[in-house]
Amino acid sequence: MENNRPLRWLGKQLFNREDPAAFFDPLLASVDPMLVRQYVPAKVTAIVDETADTKTFVLKPAARWTGFEAGQHVNICIEIDGVRLNRTFSLSSSPKQWLQHGTVTLTIKRLPGGKVTNWMHDHLEVGSTLGLADAFGDFLAPEQPEPLLFIAGGSGVTPVLSLLETLAADEYRAPVTLLYFVRTQADVIGAEKLHALRQRWPALTLHVVATDVGETPEYLNDGHLDAVPGIGARRCYLCGPKGLMDLANDLLHQRSIHEDRIHCTFFSASQAALPSDDLGGEVQFERSGVKVESEGDANLLDIAEAAQLSPQYGCRMGICHQCSCKKTSGTVINRLTGKASGPGEESIQLCVSVPQGPVNIDL
Ligand code: FES
Repeated sequence: MENNRPLRWLGKQLFNREDPAAFFDPLLASVDPMLVRQYVPAKVTAIVDETADTKTFVLKPAARWTGFEAGQHVNICIEIDGVRLNRTFSLSSSPKQWLQHGTVTLTIKRLPGGKVTNWMHDHLEVGSTLGLADAFGDFLAPEQPEPLLFIAGGSGVTPVLSLLETLAADEYRAPVTLLYFVRTQADVIGAEKLHALRQRWPALTLHVVATDVGETPEYLNDGHLDAVPGIGARRCYLCGPKGLMDLANDLLHQRSIHEDRIHCTFFSASQAALPSDDLGGEVQFERSGVKVESEGDANLLDIAEAAQLSPQYGCRMGICHQCSCKKTSGTVINRLTGKASGPGEESIQLCVSVPQGPVNIDL
């Protein structure tokens, strides 16, 4: 009987857990990180310097990774000083590369004070392993060929690189223009790839605008848009800093380009102006039996974590929907849009939802 103890203990670990992977992963990781089941491990196979502060990491995910569409994002999981951290990045390679060679790329710029991006630049090496979740996002190429305009700023070009590579491989024939805003020519990300695309794909017009070289900065203006032939009929894709995105949205709307034809994706949290006086309130996390008072513009993800809860999250900026939760009652303000929710039951994203009065959450 005594001899069966280890087996009984192992059986309990396996069958009494909602997620057996959480138990076995550390053991498997110590044998071979590529065996871990909780996320899909991806090995770094190469690291390429793009600019002074941007690198491309070439990853080889385990074969069970489900792949992606051009323009999508992915959450990664990385362990820094024994703590697992999640972040969201765009994939900069084409799905074809994944299908043919089993590799994908993430092109990542150092963010000032950014824990993960700086760690990746300073410590991630060829042969290291990180976790990759399923890809997501709807910044996708149109199903039928039509004229396209991409407006990108800085590292916002990364999903655009994936899209352009894919369109070129499909011999997309409708005109495609990329207006790419960088501080100086030395800040162009994917310069070689863009140059090669322009050489081999006649549909592409590339216009790089270095904003900081003249006496006064050159931002997106009507002159840039006037130079895009048939701009009124273009489907538009915007990715870059909030200032560029807002400006591009305004200028395109002034040209009566319908909202449905303007696709935006963010690479940093954009924030709408929030009302300053009536934010915060009592938050009840129902399933956890936790009730806390919140103040000011704290979002529900931060509030939950401050109350020692561990809700699921990914990007922490309203993109990945991993933090989606049911609100059963109360009003929240969406940080991205500044809009108030209804008072009743609905799904919300914890990371961008700020209570406005008492709120009940199914967590
Ligand atoms: S954590 Fe990604 S949307 Fe909230």
